[in-house]
Amino acid sequence: MSLPEPVKVLFVCLGNICRSPSAEGVFRHAVRESGLDAQVRIDSCGTGGWHIGKAPDNRAQAKALQRGIDLSALRARQLCPDDLVVHDYVLVMDRQNLADVMAVWAEHGGTRPQLFLDFDKSEHDEVPDPYYGGDDGFEKVLDLIESASGGLLQDIRRRLV
Ligand code: 4NP
Repeated sequence: MSLPEPVKVLFVCLGNICRSPSAEGVFRHAVRESGLDAQVRIDSCGTGGWHIGKAPDNRAQAKALQRGIDLSALRARQLCPDDLVVHDYVLVMDRQNLADVMAVWAEHGGTRPQLFLDFDKSEHDEVPDPYYGGDDGFEKVLDLIESASGGLLQDIRRRLV
């Protein structure tokens, strides 16, 4: 009997150096803690290409490390149309990301992108871009991501049974 295909999750932001690598690291940690690593694959990318090949922003790395999550091995890459074919969840951080990825989806098809915070029960629906702000913005990003990760994990568990 062959094992079922892992569920594939892609997090998308603009630069792939702040929000989506943070989501990749936090969600991977949550998946590992729940013993589902063999059944879930996680990746991240950006709609823009300015930071291709770069490690996550130092502020994002420092804040994640304070919560026991090491982002240092991640490297930025840009979204390609095949990402929507390969991944079962395409989760974007804000409405601009959604518009940009919807344009790719409209042309090439695949998995329809959705806001990551659709999986969060709070009043927030976007993970705000922290790049030009202060340290507290990076803290807020992690709080929102941690909260939505629980809801996403529940949704994935339902798929796996
Ligand atoms: P991210 O943040 O989309 O969360 O990775 C940004 C990183 C870089 C830029 C904008 C947002 N930038 O304009 O270079």
